[in-house]
Amino acid sequence: MKTIVNPRDLHLLTRKWRQAKKKVGFVPTMGALHEGHLDLVRVCRKQNNITVVSIYVNPLQFGPEEDFHQYPRNLEQDLELLRKEKVHLVYTPTNREMYPRGFATEIQVKGPVVNGLCAPYRPGHFNGVATVVVKLLAAVQPDRLYLGQKDAQQVAVLKRVTQDLNIDVEIVECPIVREHDGLAMSSRNQRLTLEGRKIAPILYKALKVGKSIVDLGETKAGNVLDEIKKVIEDERKVKIQYLEAVDAENLEPVKEIKRGTMIALAAYLDNVRLIDNIVL
Ligand code: PAJ
Repeated sequence: MKTIVNPRDLHLLTRKWRQAKKKVGFVPTMGALHEGHLDLVRVCRKQNNITVVSIYVNPLQFGPEEDFHQYPRNLEQDLELLRKEKVHLVYTPTNREMYPRGFATEIQVKGPVVNGLCAPYRPGHFNGVATVVVKLLAAVQPDRLYLGQKDAQQVAVLKRVTQDLNIDVEIVECPIVREHDGLAMSSRNQRLTLEGRKIAPILYKALKVGKSIVDLGETKAGNVLDEIKKVIEDERKVKIQYLEAVDAENLEPVKEIKRGTMIALAAYLDNVRLIDNIVL
Protein backbone atom coordinates (compact mmCIF):
# COMPACT_ATOMS: atom_id res chain seq x y z
CA MET A 1 0.00 0.00 0.00
CA LYS A 2 1.37 3.38 -1.06
CA THR A 3 0.80 6.62 0.84
CA ILE A 4 0.94 9.84 -1.14
CA VAL A 5 0.77 13.39 0.20
CA ASN A 6 1.36 15.40 -2.94
CA PRO A 7 -1.19 15.70 -5.80
CA ARG A 8 1.61 15.86 -8.40
CA ASP A 9 2.92 12.42 -7.31
CA LEU A 10 -0.62 11.15 -7.56
CA HIS A 11 -0.95 12.41 -11.15
CA LEU A 12 2.08 10.40 -12.24
CA LEU A 13 0.33 7.26 -11.00
CA THR A 14 -3.16 8.06 -12.29
CA ARG A 15 -1.71 8.66 -15.76
CA LYS A 16 -0.14 5.18 -15.66
CA TRP A 17 -3.39 3.58 -14.50
CA ARG A 18 -5.35 5.21 -17.29
CA GLN A 19 -2.85 4.07 -19.91
CA ALA A 20 -3.14 0.53 -18.52
CA LYS A 21 -6.97 0.83 -18.72
CA LYS A 22 -7.37 0.14 -15.00
CA LYS A 23 -10.71 0.99 -13.34
CA VAL A 24 -10.09 3.25 -10.38
CA GLY A 25 -12.48 3.51 -7.43
CA PHE A 26 -12.18 6.27 -4.84
CA VAL A 27 -13.38 6.48 -1.21
CA PRO A 28 -12.91 9.96 0.33
CA THR A 29 -12.87 10.04 4.15
CA MET A 30 -11.89 12.22 7.07
CA GLY A 31 -10.27 9.28 8.84
CA ALA A 32 -11.04 7.84 12.30
CA LEU A 33 -12.12 4.90 10.21
CA HIS A 34 -14.83 2.46 11.28
CA GLU A 35 -16.81 -0.36 9.67
CA GLY A 36 -18.98 2.17 7.78
CA HIS A 37 -15.91 3.45 5.94
CA LEU A 38 -14.47 -0.04 5.52
CA ASP A 39 -17.70 -1.24 3.93
CA LEU A 40 -17.30 1.43 1.22
CA VAL A 41 -13.69 0.29 0.76
CA ARG A 42 -14.75 -3.36 0.36
CA VAL A 43 -17.44 -2.53 -2.21
CA CYS A 44 -14.90 -0.38 -4.06
CA ARG A 45 -12.31 -3.18 -4.04
CA LYS A 46 -14.81 -5.61 -5.55
CA GLN A 47 -15.80 -3.26 -8.38
CA ASN A 48 -12.45 -1.80 -9.45
CA ASN A 49 -8.85 -2.71 -10.25
CA ILE A 50 -7.44 0.05 -8.07
CA THR A 51 -8.83 1.36 -4.78
CA VAL A 52 -7.79 4.81 -3.58
CA VAL A 53 -8.81 6.11 -0.14
CA SER A 54 -8.20 9.68 0.99
CA ILE A 55 -7.86 10.77 4.59
CA TYR A 56 -8.20 14.50 5.10
CA VAL A 57 -10.07 16.46 7.78
CA ASN A 58 -11.23 19.33 5.61
CA PRO A 59 -11.29 22.63 7.54
CA LEU A 60 -13.44 24.25 4.85
CA GLN A 61 -16.49 22.15 5.76
CA PHE A 62 -16.48 22.94 9.49
CA GLY A 63 -18.19 26.06 10.84
CA PRO A 64 -16.38 28.30 13.37
CA GLU A 65 -18.46 26.80 16.22
CA GLU A 66 -18.05 23.23 14.99
CA ASP A 67 -15.81 20.37 16.05
CA PHE A 68 -12.85 20.67 13.62
CA HIS A 69 -10.31 20.68 16.45
CA GLN A 70 -12.03 17.89 18.42
CA TYR A 71 -12.57 15.76 15.31
CA PRO A 72 -10.91 12.37 16.06
CA ARG A 73 -7.63 11.79 14.23
CA ASN A 74 -5.82 8.47 14.21
CA LEU A 75 -3.69 8.17 11.08
CA GLU A 76 -1.51 5.21 12.08
CA GLN A 77 -4.48 3.06 13.05
CA ASP A 78 -6.35 4.11 9.90
CA LEU A 79 -3.43 3.12 7.68
CA GLU A 80 -3.24 -0.25 9.41
CA LEU A 81 -6.96 -0.88 8.78
CA LEU A 82 -6.60 0.09 5.11
CA ARG A 83 -3.53 -2.11 4.71
CA LYS A 84 -5.62 -5.06 5.94
CA GLU A 85 -8.28 -4.21 3.35
CA LYS A 86 -5.59 -4.34 0.64
CA VAL A 87 -6.15 -0.76 -0.46
CA HIS A 88 -3.70 0.20 -3.21
CA LEU A 89 -3.17 3.83 -2.36
CA VAL A 90 -3.95 6.23 0.47
CA TYR A 91 -3.89 9.93 -0.30
CA THR A 92 -3.22 12.02 2.82
CA PRO A 93 -2.77 15.62 1.67
CA THR A 94 -1.78 18.28 4.19
CA ASN A 95 -3.59 21.61 4.61
CA ARG A 96 -0.73 23.27 2.77
CA GLU A 97 -1.20 20.90 -0.15
CA MET A 98 -4.96 21.38 -0.26
CA TYR A 99 -5.23 25.10 0.46
CA PRO A 100 -1.87 26.70 -0.30
CA ARG A 101 -1.28 30.39 0.21
CA GLY A 102 -3.32 32.32 -2.36
CA PHE A 103 -6.05 29.66 -2.65
CA ALA A 104 -9.16 31.59 -3.67
CA THR A 105 -11.70 29.27 -5.29
CA GLU A 106 -14.79 27.81 -3.69
CA ILE A 107 -17.72 25.94 -5.18
CA GLN A 108 -21.09 27.35 -4.22
CA VAL A 109 -24.02 24.94 -4.26
CA LYS A 110 -27.52 26.43 -4.58
CA GLY A 111 -31.10 25.22 -5.00
CA PRO A 112 -33.29 22.51 -3.49
CA VAL A 113 -30.47 20.15 -2.45
CA VAL A 114 -29.28 22.73 0.08
CA ASN A 115 -32.63 24.20 1.15
CA GLY A 116 -33.35 21.89 4.06
CA LEU A 117 -31.93 19.21 6.38
CA CYS A 118 -28.36 19.99 7.52
CA ALA A 119 -27.72 22.94 5.19
CA PRO A 120 -29.50 25.76 7.12
CA TYR A 121 -27.77 24.67 10.35
CA ARG A 122 -24.33 24.34 8.79
CA PRO A 123 -23.86 27.41 6.58
CA GLY A 124 -21.00 26.88 4.16
CA HIS A 125 -20.68 23.18 5.00
CA PHE A 126 -21.77 21.79 1.65
CA ASN A 127 -19.74 24.39 -0.26
CA GLY A 128 -16.73 23.14 1.71
CA VAL A 129 -17.60 19.51 0.95
CA ALA A 130 -18.15 20.26 -2.75
CA THR A 131 -14.86 22.16 -3.02
CA VAL A 132 -12.75 19.51 -1.32
CA VAL A 133 -14.37 16.59 -3.15
CA VAL A 134 -13.92 18.27 -6.53
CA LYS A 135 -10.25 18.89 -5.65
CA LEU A 136 -9.86 15.26 -4.57
CA LEU A 137 -11.57 14.03 -7.75
CA ALA A 138 -9.23 16.17 -9.83
CA ALA A 139 -6.26 14.66 -8.01
CA VAL A 140 -7.39 11.02 -8.12
CA GLN A 141 -9.39 11.06 -11.38
CA PRO A 142 -11.38 7.93 -10.48
CA ASP A 143 -13.98 6.11 -12.56
CA ARG A 144 -16.20 5.60 -9.51
CA LEU A 145 -16.79 7.55 -6.30
CA TYR A 146 -18.06 5.68 -3.21
CA LEU A 147 -20.30 7.53 -0.75
CA GLY A 148 -22.40 6.45 2.24
CA GLN A 149 -26.15 6.92 2.50
CA LYS A 150 -25.53 7.95 6.11
CA ASP A 151 -24.74 11.41 4.71
CA ALA A 152 -27.66 11.41 2.29
CA GLN A 153 -27.59 15.16 1.68
CA GLN A 154 -23.87 14.97 0.87
CA VAL A 155 -24.66 12.33 -1.76
CA ALA A 156 -27.41 14.50 -3.28
CA VAL A 157 -25.11 17.55 -3.30
CA LEU A 158 -22.22 15.66 -4.90
CA LYS A 159 -24.51 14.17 -7.56
CA ARG A 160 -25.66 17.70 -8.37
CA VAL A 161 -22.10 19.11 -8.42
CA THR A 162 -20.57 16.36 -10.59
CA GLN A 163 -23.47 16.64 -13.04
CA ASP A 164 -23.35 20.45 -13.14
CA LEU A 165 -19.57 20.57 -13.62
CA ASN A 166 -19.43 17.70 -16.15
CA ILE A 167 -17.23 15.59 -13.91
CA ASP A 168 -17.22 12.14 -15.45
CA VAL A 169 -17.48 9.91 -12.40
CA GLU A 170 -20.03 7.27 -11.43
CA ILE A 171 -21.36 7.75 -7.89
CA VAL A 172 -21.95 4.51 -5.99
CA GLU A 173 -24.09 4.87 -2.85
CA CYS A 174 -23.63 2.38 -0.03
CA PRO A 175 -26.20 1.64 2.72
CA ILE A 176 -25.77 2.83 6.31
CA VAL A 177 -23.66 0.51 8.46
CA ARG A 178 -24.93 0.32 12.05
CA GLU A 179 -23.73 -0.88 15.43
CA HIS A 180 -25.49 -3.97 16.87
CA ASP A 181 -27.93 -1.71 18.71
CA GLY A 182 -28.82 0.23 15.57
CA LEU A 183 -26.73 3.37 16.10
CA ALA A 184 -25.40 4.55 12.74
CA MET A 185 -21.62 4.24 12.81
CA SER A 186 -19.85 7.58 12.90
CA SER A 187 -16.40 8.84 13.83
CA ARG A 188 -18.23 11.23 16.18
CA ASN A 189 -19.71 8.35 18.26
CA GLN A 190 -16.29 8.13 19.97
CA ARG A 191 -17.03 11.47 21.57
CA LEU A 192 -20.21 10.29 23.33
CA THR A 193 -20.08 9.65 27.08
CA LEU A 194 -20.82 6.12 28.28
CA GLU A 195 -24.34 7.21 29.17
CA GLY A 196 -24.79 9.03 25.86
CA ARG A 197 -23.65 5.99 23.94
CA LYS A 198 -26.41 3.96 25.69
CA ILE A 199 -29.05 6.54 24.78
CA ALA A 200 -27.95 7.20 21.18
CA PRO A 201 -29.69 4.17 19.55
CA ILE A 202 -33.02 5.90 20.34
CA LEU A 203 -32.60 7.84 17.07
CA TYR A 204 -32.77 4.77 14.87
CA LYS A 205 -35.39 3.15 17.12
CA ALA A 206 -37.57 6.20 16.59
CA LEU A 207 -37.04 6.14 12.81
CA LYS A 208 -38.10 2.49 12.82
CA VAL A 209 -41.23 3.36 14.82
CA GLY A 210 -41.96 5.87 12.03
CA LYS A 211 -41.49 3.19 9.40
CA SER A 212 -43.78 0.77 11.23
CA ILE A 213 -46.54 3.42 11.34
CA VAL A 214 -46.14 3.90 7.59
CA ASP A 215 -46.26 0.14 7.10
CA LEU A 216 -49.59 0.15 8.97
CA GLY A 217 -51.00 2.63 6.44
CA GLU A 218 -50.27 6.16 7.73
CA THR A 219 -49.46 8.48 4.82
CA LYS A 220 -49.42 11.94 6.44
CA ALA A 221 -45.80 12.93 6.94
CA GLY A 222 -46.76 15.27 9.80
CA ASN A 223 -48.31 12.42 11.81
CA VAL A 224 -45.34 10.13 11.27
CA LEU A 225 -42.87 12.85 12.28
CA ASP A 226 -44.92 13.59 15.42
CA GLU A 227 -44.71 9.96 16.53
CA ILE A 228 -40.95 9.84 15.89
CA LYS A 229 -40.50 13.04 17.86
CA LYS A 230 -42.44 11.63 20.82
CA VAL A 231 -40.14 8.60 20.98
CA ILE A 232 -36.98 10.73 20.88
CA GLU A 233 -38.25 13.33 23.33
CA ASP A 234 -38.71 10.59 25.93
CA GLU A 235 -34.93 10.86 26.29
CA ARG A 236 -34.43 14.29 27.82
CA LYS A 237 -30.73 14.42 26.96
CA VAL A 238 -31.42 14.27 23.22
CA LYS A 239 -32.17 17.58 21.50
CA ILE A 240 -33.59 17.32 17.99
CA GLN A 241 -32.15 19.86 15.56
CA TYR A 242 -34.33 18.87 12.61
CA LEU A 243 -36.65 16.03 11.68
CA GLU A 244 -37.93 16.10 8.13
CA ALA A 245 -39.65 13.97 5.51
CA VAL A 246 -38.22 14.59 2.04
CA ASP A 247 -38.04 12.99 -1.38
CA ALA A 248 -34.89 10.85 -1.21
CA GLU A 249 -33.78 11.89 -4.70
CA ASN A 250 -34.19 15.68 -4.79
CA LEU A 251 -34.57 16.30 -1.02
CA GLU A 252 -37.73 18.39 -1.51
CA PRO A 253 -40.02 18.25 1.58
CA VAL A 254 -43.08 16.01 1.21
CA LYS A 255 -46.45 16.11 3.02
CA GLU A 256 -47.56 12.68 1.83
CA ILE A 257 -45.30 9.67 2.43
CA LYS A 258 -44.59 7.70 -0.73
CA ARG A 259 -42.17 4.97 -1.74
CA GLY A 260 -38.78 6.70 -1.79
CA THR A 261 -39.60 9.18 0.96
CA MET A 262 -36.68 9.69 3.32
CA ILE A 263 -37.06 10.66 6.95
CA ALA A 264 -33.89 12.35 8.13
CA LEU A 265 -32.86 13.88 11.42
CA ALA A 266 -30.04 15.56 13.29
CA ALA A 267 -29.87 15.66 17.07
CA TYR A 268 -27.46 16.71 19.78
CA LEU A 269 -26.48 14.35 22.57
CA ASP A 270 -23.56 15.14 24.92
CA ASN A 271 -22.78 18.11 22.65
CA VAL A 272 -22.16 15.64 19.82
CA ARG A 273 -24.18 16.14 16.67
CA LEU A 274 -25.60 12.87 15.32
CA ILE A 275 -27.45 12.35 12.04
CA ASP A 276 -29.46 9.43 10.75
CA ASN A 277 -32.09 8.63 8.12
CA ILE A 278 -34.34 5.91 6.81
CA VAL A 279 -35.75 5.53 3.32
CA LEU A 280 -39.32 4.19 3.25
P1 PAJ B 1 -16.49 10.94 6.61
O1 PAJ B 1 -17.47 11.45 7.60
O2 PAJ B 1 -15.19 10.40 7.08
O3 PAJ B 1 -17.20 9.85 5.74
C1 PAJ B 1 -16.56 9.28 4.64
C2 PAJ B 1 -17.58 8.43 3.88
O4 PAJ B 1 -18.01 7.36 4.72
C3 PAJ B 1 -18.85 9.23 3.51
O5 PAJ B 1 -19.26 8.89 2.20
C4 PAJ B 1 -19.85 8.78 4.55
O6 PAJ B 1 -21.19 8.88 4.12
C5 PAJ B 1 -19.43 7.32 4.74
N1 PAJ B 1 -19.91 6.80 6.01
C6 PAJ B 1 -19.68 7.30 7.26
N2 PAJ B 1 -20.34 6.58 8.18
C7 PAJ B 1 -21.02 5.62 7.53
C8 PAJ B 1 -21.89 4.55 7.92
N3 PAJ B 1 -22.21 4.34 9.19
N4 PAJ B 1 -22.40 3.76 6.95
C9 PAJ B 1 -22.09 3.98 5.65
N5 PAJ B 1 -21.28 4.95 5.22
C10 PAJ B 1 -20.74 5.76 6.13
O7 PAJ B 1 -18.17 12.41 4.63
C11 PAJ B 1 -17.03 12.80 4.82
O8 PAJ B 1 -16.11 12.12 5.58
C12 PAJ B 1 -16.50 14.09 4.21
O9 PAJ B 1 -17.55 15.02 4.09
C13 PAJ B 1 -15.79 13.89 2.84
C14 PAJ B 1 -16.75 13.31 1.79
C15 PAJ B 1 -14.57 12.97 3.01
C16 PAJ B 1 -15.29 15.26 2.33
O10 PAJ B 1 -14.44 15.86 3.23
